[in-house]
Parts: sequence; structure tokens; C-alpha cells
Amino acid sequence: MKLSQAILPVAGLGTRFLPWTKVVPKELLPIGNIPIIAMLVDEALSVGITEICFVISKGKESIPEYFHARPELEKELESRGKLHMLEDLSRYANVKFHVVYQHEQKGDGHAILQAKDWVTSDAVGILFGDDLIHGAKTGLQQLKTACEEVMQKHPEDPLPAMLALENVKRELTKKYGIADIDESKSDGRLKRVKGLVEKPEPAAAPSTLGIVGKYIIPRSTFDILPAVSSSHGGEIRLIDALIAQLKDTPIYGYEFEGKRYDTGTPDGYKEAAQALG
Ligand code: UTP
Repeated sequence: MKLSQAILPVAGLGTRFLPWTKVVPKELLPIGNIPIIAMLVDEALSVGITEICFVISKGKESIPEYFHARPELEKELESRGKLHMLEDLSRYANVKFHVVYQHEQKGDGHAILQAKDWVTSDAVGILFGDDLIHGAKTGLQQLKTACEEVMQKHPEDPLPAMLALENVKRELTKKYGIADIDESKSDGRLKRVKGLVEKPEPAAAPSTLGIVGKYIIPRSTFDILPAVSSSHGGEIRLIDALIAQLKDTPIYGYEFEGKRYDTGTPDGYKEAAQALG
């Protein structure tokens, strides 16, 4: 499996952090001395990804700028002998960054669809801007290993999609896409998905395994996305494309190891900054 590209959708308005998100994207909030977005880029690099596409909206250009080379600053640091800082700054020198715009907030699937023409990799990592997983292995490392295991066991099958799953409290199922699991084809943390339901009421949820913001999807998902605008005000939701693919694409979930932080809420960010900062 060629997994050389990742899409990081960070076009959201960050309304839960207003007013200051009028001028600073929430993804640049620091955890210690590292912005959340750099932690996500590092997560992509942890599986050998070399090309990253940010999906941004107007006013969030400082996200890609963070990763741009600054030759004059580098020269200055060199002349001052601050070599460790220089090393930090050149950390992303070999990564190819790309930017696309999402001009309207029309759903998570709509966000990644903006990068369709950029995608050349067989499989693509998708890391939404809010979720950080802290553990011995990064979230994407765990998903990639799980994908490779599946492909080794079923070499004749098409490339699978792999979703990061978390066992959430039943009363919270309404906040997540929930996976319906085929237990007979599941093994430990690796779950074969036979159905997906977006934000079900607790009583209607087929399980308590919720999708969090990390995926590996096959390139074929991008062909399905344009056709799945939902009844929810014309939104394009990634989960609807995956539901449409269930009939011909093996979809799995991996119940990741480690602790997840949702940095998209002020409380979640505070918790992450205290624990990881
Ligand atoms: P959120 O649901 O947290 O939305 O998106 P938001 O706009 O960022 O924040 P609030 O709800 O207004 O406070 C989760 C992730 O998906 C991205 C966001 O940037 C964030 O990283 N996203 C969401 C998009 O890129 N485009 C969208 O249309 C929606």
C-alpha cells in the first residue's frame, strides 16, 4: 500500500473559541511549545508520509505559513550559533506542503473533497484538526499497522478503509459516527465494520464504538464523495461515502491504544495542554 499523502482539514471557524479565533486559528494553539497542527503533521510523518495538504478557509493562511522555510531567520540563527533552533526550523524541509480552500462549511466530506485533484497516493491519511492521541504509538501508526495486517490476511481484497474507533459512553453516541461491528470477522482491537450510523440516539446506537478524527481511506472514496450530499442542508459527510462503499470496500475500525484529547473545545484544550504540555 502506498500511503504517501495526508489531508489535514482545518477550515472550521472555531466558533467555540471566539472571539480570538477571529484572528488566530485554533489549530495554532500550543501544547507546550508546539502548535496542535505541528503535532498532527508529525503524526503524518510518523508513518512516512511526505506530502501534506491543508484544507483551510480564508484567514487561516498562518497554518501553512508555520511550515514555510524562513531562509533569513535560518541565516540569523546560524550566525548566532543557535544550531538546535535551526534544527527545529528545518524539521519540515523535506515535506511537500499543499493548500486548498474550502470556501463554505459544508461538512467533513466536503472539506476533503477539495483536495481530490491533489491525491495521487493509493491510500490517504485523514487527520481532522481537533483530535490528538497520546500513547506509545501515534494514531496513524496504529491505523497503518492495522491496514497492513488486513491486507496481508486478505491480499485479494480491495484496499480497506481504516477508521480510528473509541469506546465512548453510551449517552454520548449522539456526538459521533457509530460503527456496527461484525464480531465474527473482528479480532481484538481490529473491528470489521458492517454498518455506520451518524450520531445515533443512545438507544438506537448499534455499538458504543465512535469514530474519532483519524482515517486511512482508499483513493476510491474521493470518487464517491461528490454523489453523497445528504439531506442535512446539502452537507457532504465522509461517513455517507463510507456507507456507500460498504458493499464493495472492506471497512475496518481500530480501537486505538492511548488517550484521546479533543482540543476543539476550551475544556478539552486545557486538559491536553496540562497533560501533554
Ligand atoms: P469542528 O466540528 O470542531 O468545527 O470541526 P469547527 O468549525 O472547527 O469548530 P466549532 O464547532 O465552530 O467550534 C472538526 C475539524 O474539522 C474541520 C475543522 O477545521 C476541525 O479541524 N472542518 C470542519 C473543516 O475543515 N471543514 C468543515 O466544513 C468542518
